[in-house]
Parts: sequence; C-alpha cells; structure tokens
Amino acid sequence: MRVRERQSEAWPVDPSRHGQVESTGGLRPRRICVVGCGYVGLVTATGFASVGHYVVGLDNDQSRIQMLREGRVPFFEPGLEEKVRENQAEGHLAFITDYEEAIAGAEFVFLAVNTPEHGDGCPNLTNLWQAVLTVRKAARDHRPIIMVKSTVPIGTTQALASLLNTVSDNGTPWSVVVNPEFLSEGQALNAFLHCDRVVLGSNDERALREAASLYDSFDCPIVSAEFATAETIKYASNAFLATKLSFINEIAFLCESLGVDVREVARGIGLDPRIGLSFLKAGVGFGGSCLPKDTRTLVNLAREAGEESTLFPAVMRVNDRRRAVVVDRLRQALSGLEGRVVCLWGLAFKPNTDDIRDAPSIDIIRLLLADGAIVRAYDPMANARVGALFPQVTYCPDALTACEGADALVLLTEWQEFEGIDLQEARRRMQGDVLLDGRYVWQRSHVETAGFRYLNLAPAQPIRTPIHR
Ligand code: UGA
Repeated sequence: MRVRERQSEAWPVDPSRHGQVESTGGLRPRRICVVGCGYVGLVTATGFASVGHYVVGLDNDQSRIQMLREGRVPFFEPGLEEKVRENQAEGHLAFITDYEEAIAGAEFVFLAVNTPEHGDGCPNLTNLWQAVLTVRKAARDHRPIIMVKSTVPIGTTQALASLLNTVSDNGTPWSVVVNPEFLSEGQALNAFLHCDRVVLGSNDERALREAASLYDSFDCPIVSAEFATAETIKYASNAFLATKLSFINEIAFLCESLGVDVREVARGIGLDPRIGLSFLKAGVGFGGSCLPKDTRTLVNLAREAGEESTLFPAVMRVNDRRRAVVVDRLRQALSGLEGRVVCLWGLAFKPNTDDIRDAPSIDIIRLLLADGAIVRAYDPMANARVGALFPQVTYCPDALTACEGADALVLLTEWQEFEGIDLQEARRRMQGDVLLDGRYVWQRSHVETAGFRYLNLAPAQPIRTPIHR
C-alpha cells in the first residue's frame, strides 16, 4: 500500500516518530483511521492502538474529539478511558476532525458510524453514506482499504463498493472489506482484544489478506467470506443470542407457573456443551442498541427477500411480554398503581454501562407513569440519561435512598452492588413489602427473610399491558 509521503509525514500518529517500527507479537504496525468515535469506533481505535497499530480517530463532533484528546470518554465503559489516555501518551492514538489529514496517511479506513433504527425497523444508513462520500472526496488519488465496521443490512457493502468504484476518477479501484464487530458493552475492550473470531467479507482477495494482517497478533480464527455472507453472520449472531434469551425467558414463564427455579433449569441445560451456559440468564428481557434492532432488521430483510419469518417476531414478542408482565404483576400486587410508589433498581440495559438504548426500564417507567404510579429510581451510572427522558421520576444517589417510602421495589438491572445489598434495611425504609426481582439475583428465601413479599414474573392471563411500538 503506497501512501503519499508528504502527507504521511504530517499524520498525527506518524510511526516514524517512534524510530524503528516495532512489532508486537508478530504484528506489522499499520496506519489506521477510524471514522466515528462512538461506541464501536472508539473501542476499535483503542483496541488496534493497544496492540501496536497507529490509529487516528475521526469524528465530526468537535466537542467529542476535544474530550477524547483530554483523555475523557463520553460514555461509561470500564477500563476504556485509561487505555485511551495511555495510547495517546504513547503516540499510538490521536483524535482529529479533519478528514483530509486523517485519510491521507491511512492504509485502512474503518467506517464505524452509527446506523440507528428507522421507525420502520430498518437501520438508517444516512451517516454511513455521508461518511463514504466524505472519505472519497478527502482521499483524492490515495486508496486506503475501506473497512466497514458499522452493522449494515445485507447487500450494503456491495452497494458501497460499487458506489466508490463507479465514481473513481483516476482509475485506481477502491478495495472494500466488511468487518462486523462482536464486542459487548461493559467489557468492550477486552471483548475486542480477545474475540472468538474475526469475520471479514470482500470480493477482493488482496484486501482480505491485508485486512487479516491487522489481526495477526489475535489468537482467534479468521473467517473470510463474501460481502453478503459476512453481513449475514453479524445479523445471525445477534438474532441467535436474542433467540436464546427469549427461549430461556419463555421457559422462565413456565417455571414461574410451576414453581420451578429457572436458574437451576438454565444450569441443567446449559451444561450440555451443545447448548452452553452463556446467555441463559432469564430476566426482564434483552435491550441495548443491537439485539432488538438487529432482530427486527432481520425480520424486515427476510420480508424484502420474500421470506416471512415466524421465529424472530416471536422472539421479540416474548421479549416485550417480559417487560409488560413486570407492570401487570405490580398492578395486581398493589391493587392498582395510581399513587403507588415504585422504586426501580437499575436502569441501564445491562450492568457496567450507562447505555439506556431500548432498555427494559424505559418501557417499564413509561407504563408505570401511564398508570399513575410515582417512580423513584437508582442506577449507578444511568440516572442522568433516563432523567433526560423522564424528568417526573425521582432519581436517587444510592439504592437505599431510592427505597424510601416505596410500596414496591423492582430490580431491573443486575449491577453487582445489588447482589449483596442489605435487603432488610431496604425493607425498613419502604412503606410496602413487595419485591420483584427482575433478574433472578436473589434466592426467594433471602428476600422473604428480609420481610418482603416475593413477586415473580408469572404471566397474568391474558396479559393486560401490551407494549406498543
Ligand atoms: C450484543 C452482542 O452480545 C455482541 O456480540 C454484539 O457485538 C453487540 O450486541 C453489537 O451488535 O454491537 P450488547 O448489546 O453489548 O452486545 O449486549 P449483550 O451482552 O448482548 O446483552 C444484551 C441484552 O441481553 C442485555 O439487555 C442483557 O441484560 C440481556 N441478557 C444477556 C440477558 O437478559 N441474559 C443473559 O444471559 C445475557
């Protein structure tokens, strides 16, 4: 890959400043630009810098770039901020807003812009197309390999490659590789660096080889495929995880009705290696920016391809039902919710993140407020984000304060601090005695010994609280 010398000299993380180009675990350090410093982009940039590549993070948002330069990460992700600082200090990572400068020295350009959901259940690709056009213009006659990290519907990367090559003005073709990301929030950097597999999709053999070399120091298989296959692997992975969760949540409904502990059932089936123990924790359902969105997109993609999916709509229905049943059970236990005080522990879509996108808490708060309940809440990291959506909720600085005067306590996100919390003290501060453990964190006997009436997630028949999307 030839890079124009004049411009590479000015590149913000020029390897030549480090004297001899070092090699980490057999890795040839490369120059990477990551477009989009959101969740996936920032983790990708930091991850590659950590293994010895030279990375420039690019974002249109000047204030975000300024924060990152100061070593501050605009969202909560354990360990990420330290690594951002460390890699900047070591000259492996820099953040800028200037496309021309960032692209000029890069051998690879990762597109990691967000693709939020349209109202119609399909991702909005406006940011992606905008980024492609800007990269193309900024690159002039230079041809870095374009790496698509954003989750894109099947067929998008082919269309993107065609677009770039149709308008190529100097005859030098663009190489495009789709490289879906499988990292998981709350343990993102670790998941990036210790991934189970790298998936690469392209119709360009040389680009596939080059892209694979970025991961030379990773100890995992590399799956190389066509564009559409790689894109499908990403959707199928998330849809499988969603299906596994709705499976155990459906079993949980049955267990509740039969008085069986779903955790024991999950362990009993998960020890079969064909099933596996992970993603078998029942609860109030899955949320986040990926599993729900990608499962819905798959339904749409199937429909567009002339296939009517029966499984995935059911997966989503089970998930919605888990949220709705929380409100049904509380309404039943408190003989109506009007004027009742409900305390929620945990608002983020899962522990160790402040992300509230499609979090069960959002639907549940909306339904509780619609029924006239008074909601008090505590989350170690997500109070402010939910506060921006529901100012009428009282957000508390700690879990026990949140319980004060409550008629019912509901655990929605299994942050570790809730596991060992003093439930007797929580009960003392409440006026009511109802506890609903939405994540199966405690044993029923432990809850009852603390003086609570244990509410399970047994389905009311018929369910009264439909989730409208
Ligand atoms: C998910 C996938 O796990 C990643 O592999 C993928 O890269 C990512 O989406 C993405 O497409 O970017 P993430 O959204 O961070 O990652 O969260 P998960 O760990 O998958 O959890 C999703 C939801 O499932 C959470 O609400 C969590 O509470 C719930 N969950 C998870 C359970 O209810 N039980 C479990 O056993 C596991």
